[in-house]
Amino acid sequence: MEKVLLTGANGFVGQELVTVLLRKGYQVIATGKGPSRLQVEDPQLVYYDIDITHPFALQTVMIRELPTIVVHAAAMTQVDECEQRQNEAHALNVEATARLLLDAETYSNFIIFLSTDFVFDGEKGMYTESDDVNPVSWYGHTKVEAEAVMQTSAIPWAIVRTCLVYGNQSSGGRHNIFSWIRESLEAGKHIKVVDDQWRTPTYVTDLAEGIAAIIDAKAEGIWHLSGKDRMTPYGMAMEIAAYNKYDSSLVEKVTAANFSQPGKRPLLTGFNISKAEKELGFGPLSFGEAMKRLMG
Ligand SMILES: NC(=O)c1ccc[n+]([C@@H]2O[C@H](COP(=O)([O-])OP(=O)(O)OC[C@H]3O[C@@H](n4cnc5c(N)ncnc54)[C@H](OP(=O)(O)O)[C@@H]3O)[C@@H](O)[C@H]2O)c1
Repeated sequence: MEKVLLTGANGFVGQELVTVLLRKGYQVIATGKGPSRLQVEDPQLVYYDIDITHPFALQTVMIRELPTIVVHAAAMTQVDECEQRQNEAHALNVEATARLLLDAETYSNFIIFLSTDFVFDGEKGMYTESDDVNPVSWYGHTKVEAEAVMQTSAIPWAIVRTCLVYGNQSSGGRHNIFSWIRESLEAGKHIKVVDDQWRTPTYVTDLAEGIAAIIDAKAEGIWHLSGKDRMTPYGMAMEIAAYNKYDSSLVEKVTAANFSQPGKRPLLTGFNISKAEKELGFGPLSFGEAMKRLMG
C-alpha cells in the first residue's frame, strides 16, 4: 500500500482528499498547522501538527514515515491576507515549498503541488495548461514562483491548478462560495455577489478524485482540474436560490469595483479541462448536479 504525505490536510481541499485517498486504499500521512480537524478515523491515517515554515519540521516527519508520494496543499490561500503579509506569504507559499521539494527528492518518488487560476491575469479566460502566467496579486505571484520551483524537481512532479472550489463547509474551516451563499440565503440575509468575475467553479469531491487519478497514474506535468460550467458567483447564487426556492431578491448583483480589496482578482479565469478529460478520464459534475448532491 502506497503512503501519501499530505500537507494542508486540515484545509477545505485537504479534508476531502484525506477521505478520497483512504477510500482508494492509500495510507495517508496527514499534516496541518493546528490540531487535527479531520472527522475520519482510520487505521491507515496518521496526523502530525507541524508548522511547515519551520526549517526541519516536515523533514522529521518525512524521515519517520518515508512516504512515496507527497501532495502539497498547505498555503496561505486568502488573497487579501497574502497582499498584506507578503513576507509571510512568501515564506509559506514559496520557501516552504522549496524545502518540501528537497525532502521529497530525497525520500519520495512523486510530488503534486496545488496551484490556482490566480496565476493568470484574467484578460482571456478559459485557460489551457500552456497559456502564459501573469499574476495580478501577491498570492498569484507566490504560486507562480512555487510552480517554477516545482518544475526544477529531480523526481516526477505534477502541478494541479484549480479554480473557485466549492462544497459543504469543511470541519472547523471557513465558508466557501457555495456554503456562504446557501447559509446566507437560508437565514434570509441580503448578500452582494459579483457578476463580472468569470470562473469554472470546482466541486471539491471532483477535485480530490482528479488528484487521486493523477496519483494513480503518476501523471506528470501541469493539469487544470475544475468544473466545466463557466459562471460568475452571482450566477451561482441565482441557481442556488432557484433550486431551493430561496428569496432571490436577497441577492444583489455587484461588480468587483464595488469592493475595495487589498488584493486584485483576475476578472476572466476558468479552465479548459480537455487535457484532464482526455488523459485522466476526469469527468466533473455540472454545477447543477453537484448542487443537487450537496443539498441532499
Ligand atoms: N479553495 C480554493 O478555491 C482554491 C482555489 C485555487 C487553488 N487552491 C489551492 O488549493 C490548496 C488548498 O486550498 P484550501 O482551500 O484547502 O486552503 P485552506 O482551507 O486555507 O487550507 C490550507 C491549510 O494550510 C495549512 N497551513 C497554513 N499555514 C501552515 C503552516 N505554516 N504550516 C503547516 N500548514 C499550514 C492550514 O492548516 P491549519 O488549518 O491546521 O492551520 C490550512 O488548513 C492551496 O494550495 C490553494 O492555494 C484553492
